[in-house]
Amino acid sequence: MKRKLALGSLTAVMMATLCTPLSAADPVDPAALARTRKQVKVLDGIYKHAIVLVTTHFVKEESDLPAGTAFKKLFEVAKENDWHHVRLIDATGDPYDTENVAESDFEKAAVTQLVAGKDYVDRTIVRDGKPILQAATAIPVVMDKCVMCHDNYADLPAGMAIGALTYEIAIE
Ligand code: HEC
Repeated sequence: MKRKLALGSLTAVMMATLCTPLSAADPVDPAALARTRKQVKVLDGIYKHAIVLVTTHFVKEESDLPAGTAFKKLFEVAKENDWHHVRLIDATGDPYDTENVAESDFEKAAVTQLVAGKDYVDRTIVRDGKPILQAATAIPVVMDKCVMCHDNYADLPAGMAIGALTYEIAIE
């Protein structure tokens, strides 16, 4: 009885701290969840800074290899090695490449929340008995150069999310 109560309150705490409700029947270890969220934060910071650095120093004209294209190759390597899954997707409804759109229910719901002003959304799921963190972070138009190739960004309010990086990482 005591154990049941403890589990119940743990689940309640986790439901309250997550942006989207837990669908998992089993509670996730809060320390492992915190470590995985930190991992997303670090990865997101590294990926975004690298994309901005590449765009700043190497992309001069529209015919140059966009950082987005280069990083999609890197994301494939991460997936092949089973490090994590990460996708670069559009949030404007007008993607450069039609494959870069929200596919899963999580991604679709996340894009709506990011466009509405959130910087970050996540939730935990259980797949094949293993807990996974799904997360999404906003991408705003960070420099004028973005508009060189994405001319649709020019008409959007400054600071609005025009895209997202979405993640799936095992909670270990
Ligand atoms: C040199 C042209 C170019 C520049 C500059 C550029 N992009 Fe892109 N971007 C692309 C191309 C091409 C794709 C599609 C890549 C693919 O699928 O291989 C893309 C894809 C994207 C996507 C995924 C959704 C979509 O539209 O397909 C986002 C989000 C994005 N870029 C944001 C940005 C941001 C933010 C900047 C500024 C930091 C930027 N881009 C600068 C050409 C560019």
